[in-house]
Amino acid sequence: MSLDPAGTVMARCATLATVSEEPDRLTRRFGTAALRDANAAVAEWMRAAGMTARQDALGNLIGRYEAEQTGAKTLLLGSHLDSVIDAGKYDGPLGVLVALACVQRLHDQGRRLPFAIELLGFADEEGVRYHTTYLGSQVVAGTLAPAALELADADGITLAQAIRAFGGDPGRLAESRRSGDDLLGYCEVHIEQGPVLEARDLPVGVVSAIAGQSRIAVVLTGVAGHAGTVPMDLRRDALCAAAELVLAAEALARDTPGLVATIGQLDARPGASNVIPGQVTLSLDIRHQDDAHRERALAELRQRAERNAGARGIALDWRIVQESCALACDTALTERLARAIAALGYPLLALPSGAGHDGVAIAALTPIAMLFVRCKGGVSHNPAESVDLADVGVAIDVLGRFLLELRTED
Ligand code: GLV
Ligand code: MN
Ligand code: MN
Repeated sequence: MSLDPAGTVMARCATLATVSEEPDRLTRRFGTAALRDANAAVAEWMRAAGMTARQDALGNLIGRYEAEQTGAKTLLLGSHLDSVIDAGKYDGPLGVLVALACVQRLHDQGRRLPFAIELLGFADEEGVRYHTTYLGSQVVAGTLAPAALELADADGITLAQAIRAFGGDPGRLAESRRSGDDLLGYCEVHIEQGPVLEARDLPVGVVSAIAGQSRIAVVLTGVAGHAGTVPMDLRRDALCAAAELVLAAEALARDTPGLVATIGQLDARPGASNVIPGQVTLSLDIRHQDDAHRERALAELRQRAERNAGARGIALDWRIVQESCALACDTALTERLARAIAALGYPLLALPSGAGHDGVAIAALTPIAMLFVRCKGGVSHNPAESVDLADVGVAIDVLGRFLLELRTED
């Protein structure tokens, strides 16, 4: 028995969840064989839906469904196909596959729209390997700084090398920049990754704005030494300084409404139970809907970290790896999504996104709108991520309706 569109999306999310770098959990970082296989699978599904499919010079997957006439404008749809480490099934792939289901429906009906659809499977949104969130969408928007090509991953492989190994061409990234001239906009479907829609008993909602974020690489350098012989008052323990920074970040975020701060990576060297940690490298991720609040918090935290480390004789290196400003979604395009939700009889909720999304980078090119889909318990970046089949069906219907609304108005 063939599956309905939502069932197909769920089955495909489950299939992609097995396309991983690791045997027992889903990890699909940029430039890996797993991402290559995921791109190949989605490209096949795109072709079956009447689209052409190709990879750009970075490794973004681009499917195209032509308009009823040549020379028509283009609407961008999409999301990302990379994942975090030990990821859930839906963060990224859901958006690609819901959009694909809408194109499949048009194809099955033998229907073309007065605009073409380009469906983007971004090669790196999470920034896990190079700490560069929105890598894929920045290439499409033409905003990736060339210096990023020299970034090295944990194994010393530069981004330029990884692009080449993936079959791309770091020298031709500029050619993958999408011109904004013929675009109608960009619309992304994504799981909410938070608990609001569930609490309001709603299957979907529109996104009002996406929080700005800063990611900092911090290195604290003290002196490694013997755990048995160096008295406590003569130690320069880098991990103790790191612990102070972790708790200072938590305290500041708790005291600042709307601020969230996370230390998700921490590496203590040399890493032996009988050696005082001489050096700690850690990541700090800090976000707020208001850029001024985020910038103020960051400056304050840095000051505290310098003061605390200094008091311990620890050197602090603080490097901003990534920053993006808060972004308001486009009012007109969002209004069209809202109308599609209303036309299907669902109440409307607009909510901000604390998670980052490719639309932040694509907004440099064209107006963006986003549709959130309810997820269970607000859980995401976690293998327990879960969405309901029925909600996926609603998302397909809303996006499908949105496409037809654009059809009547553009
Ligand atoms: C991406 O998922 C992010 O917000 O970190
Ligand atoms: Mn995502
Ligand atoms: Mn994510």
